[in-house]
Amino acid sequence: MTTKDISTHLIHHPYRAPEGFDSPLVPAAKGSTVFFPNVAALRSRTWLDRSAYTYGLHGTPTTFTLEERLATLEGGTHCLLVSSGLAAITLVDMAVLASGDQVLLPDNVYGPNRTFSRHELAGWGVTHGLYDAQDAASLTASITPATKLVWLEAPGSVTLEFPDLRALVRTVRERAPQAVIALDNTWGSGLAFDAFELGAGQGVDVTIHALTKYPSGGGDVLMGSVICRDDALYRKLALSRSRIGHGVGVNDVEAVLRSLPSLPLRYAAQDQAGRVFGAWCAKRPEFVRVLHPALAGSPGHEHWKSHCRAAAGLVTVEIDPRFTAVQGDAFVDALRLFRIGWSWGGPVSLAVPYQTPAIRDRATPYKGTLVRFCLGLEAIGDLIADAEQALSALRA
Ligand SMILES: Cc1ncc(COP(=O)(O)O)c(C=O)c1O
Repeated sequence: MTTKDISTHLIHHPYRAPEGFDSPLVPAAKGSTVFFPNVAALRSRTWLDRSAYTYGLHGTPTTFTLEERLATLEGGTHCLLVSSGLAAITLVDMAVLASGDQVLLPDNVYGPNRTFSRHELAGWGVTHGLYDAQDAASLTASITPATKLVWLEAPGSVTLEFPDLRALVRTVRERAPQAVIALDNTWGSGLAFDAFELGAGQGVDVTIHALTKYPSGGGDVLMGSVICRDDALYRKLALSRSRIGHGVGVNDVEAVLRSLPSLPLRYAAQDQAGRVFGAWCAKRPEFVRVLHPALAGSPGHEHWKSHCRAAAGLVTVEIDPRFTAVQGDAFVDALRLFRIGWSWGGPVSLAVPYQTPAIRDRATPYKGTLVRFCLGLEAIGDLIADAEQALSALRA
């Protein structure tokens, strides 16, 4: 280059660092713009098969690497990153559904999934139906020729009922072979059970994860993934993602890549903490019900046993209905180590109170305040002592 102008030199510097740098972490490749060596390459390169780079939104070495690792964790073939767990849900909806179609959701689905159906999907001419996930006959009754997508969630949000996934998948295959089966597998994290191999030749078509939870593990990243095995379904999802314009920040991708190796250890520790905490809750007279799929007597425990080898560290209790909703809130306010906040899967334990009429369309057996605890990584003895001292708010 002949110019002596430093501003040009600083942009078009000839130095290239040597290749071959290797370290435990995948380099964070940044770039909205991707360079092409010539116009022919610009015109011919394709990102869909991940063989090349075209634009930051379509993939970088860092995002491709996280996608490959997540696909392996889930037992899938293709993975697409999006900006949040909710964005993963809505991407599946938008890729699969068209005006005139129907989507079915379990009544205990993650709330914003249902809200999206009520608002955006309804506006686009897509109807939705709600079924009882603990009853395959209820799913059968909800299916129509227009059913094109069936959501599953295991266990249900907040109330943690574990469904008979095999029976639900079988029902859809028999009664609605035209439908795609999608599972919100955030709770299982790819570790508790194999969504694509449920046994007896059964499996779902696509899973979504809120990577925001255990895969991030820090309570500081928002990201989602969509994973499938089928090439045609991947193509549909990938093209929708590109048209919608989902992108993920490389620093967030880097954070999830850094957390992923410790995921099995954290998941096991939080599973163990959840079971010990659940067992303690079960002995407290203030709680009339403890909802945790691995605890005998919890709804769907037998399905959890036949599908799973682990559980997430979530426990929901029903406070005796003789205590008011205000007292239920006071109990949560009195917690010191458990912080009040949405989400889960990070190091800090969390608690949120719920009244079921506000979160369910169908009648539920839960009459008292529900408190959902998410076990973090603090010492379990300290967490139990914290819950114990907070119970005095119920006696006041
Ligand atoms: C089961 C489940 N799915 C999806 C989501 C959505 O994840 P995000 O917060 O990343 O949108 C959540 C978040 O709470 C969740 O609990």
